[in-house]
Amino acid sequence: MSPPDEGQLLSMLLKLMNAKRTIEIGVFTGYSLLATALALPHDGQIVAIDPDREAYEVGLPFIQKAGVEHKINFIQSDALSVLDEMLRNDKNKMAFDFVFVDADKDNYINYHEKAIQMVKIGGVIAYDNTLWFSTVASEEEDVPEFFRPYRKAIIDLNKRLASDHRVEIVQISIGDGVTLCRRII
Ligand SMILES: C[S@@+](CC[C@H](N)C(=O)[O-])C[C@H]1O[C@@H](n2cnc3c(N)ncnc32)[C@H](O)[C@@H]1O
Repeated sequence: MSPPDEGQLLSMLLKLMNAKRTIEIGVFTGYSLLATALALPHDGQIVAIDPDREAYEVGLPFIQKAGVEHKINFIQSDALSVLDEMLRNDKNKMAFDFVFVDADKDNYINYHEKAIQMVKIGGVIAYDNTLWFSTVASEEEDVPEFFRPYRKAIIDLNKRLASDHRVEIVQISIGDGVTLCRRII
């Protein structure tokens, strides 16, 4: 899960943006979800997607204790099919302030093409792990086998985001690297 300083960064960002509607792709036990839910106003809404309900239920008592469960619509599923389904309804296009992507790294590029349609202009998509344990800056032969498959996916994503004229980006070396993309057109 994301480290606490990253949780605080997300929280501050959401408050500065006055974010109200967000999507979280990859929930696990709900640490970043709780940070998001606490940062949104009382009538804020989060669509939180993860196939692993068991992990979500580990964190759920803390979300309940914090009094923010009513803001969360947890959907037990892989995220791509949910985003596809949401995009079939025009109401979900340009309707979200913020999307946090922290799931299967080899789908980040696919998530980007969906998320870009769902955030408002001025809205933000945040990608976690864009330094991939610093291996994006290493030669492949110096990278342990375990990190290699997702390393390639993250390098491809970083290149794609850097040349995407629809967003302006900043990569922050917090946690395992977070890239913020602000939709500009
Ligand atoms: C790193 S954890 C998320 C941590 C969480 N965002 C936090 O900071 O507390 C990654 C999560 O992505 C989920 N995941 C993996 N593949 C997914 C998919 N196709 N769609 C949605 N979630 C997925 C996993 O089940 C796992 O719970």
